[in-house]
Amino acid sequence: MYGLVNKAAQDFVIEGHGEEVWQIIKTKAGVDEVAFVSMQPYPDEITYNIVGAASEHLGANPDDILEAFGQYWIKFTMEEGYSHVLDLAGRTFPEFLNNLNNMHAHIAQSFTELKPPTFFCETIDAHTFKFEYHTERPGLVRFVKGLLLGLGERFKISVGVEYIGTIDGNENSHEYRVTYNS
Ligand code: HEM
Repeated sequence: MYGLVNKAAQDFVIEGHGEEVWQIIKTKAGVDEVAFVSMQPYPDEITYNIVGAASEHLGANPDDILEAFGQYWIKFTMEEGYSHVLDLAGRTFPEFLNNLNNMHAHIAQSFTELKPPTFFCETIDAHTFKFEYHTERPGLVRFVKGLLLGLGERFKISVGVEYIGTIDGNENSHEYRVTYNS
């Protein structure tokens, strides 16, 4: 994934546990880079290794780390100069969720090797969505949950996320039930 993601993971660890802990996790993950370059693509393995090493060192479940990292990602992108991209994607939570694919397409204009996930939303009622996540990457189910919770914080609304399961047994397609109260 692009260095921007690894940089966010680094900041996430440093903000929560300090620079020394980051150095330990970085070494454990086998990361040789002095610093990540945001606009450079890195093998996905690096990101997964960072999560694995953080889980081992902090004694935390990797899925819990991914969920917290998803929440952090929203805050990170806003501070890292992408708040205009988020602003353009929608003024309300439902509008934003329906625009996620367009938003990543817009991002792909500068991140030309981006392999973005795709999402589909179906309105169930005024406060409920069926939300689909399709990806080439395994293991990020709870990351997406964290992202949705982070968006709830950004829109200052209360959001609930329930993971339903894979779609038609396909490990690359996942379904969630998202509730929100604005
Ligand atoms: C301005 C905000 C955002 C930026 C700049 C951004 C950018 C990126 C980048 C660079 C990647 C790595 C993919 C790659 O390198 O091939 C990525 C992955 C991802 N993004 Fe976004 N993104 C943003 C917001 C969001 C939001 C709001 C969601 C909400 C659901 C989201 C969902 C994901 C997921 C789930 C992945 C993991 C890749 C996968 O599942 O295949 N992103 N994004």
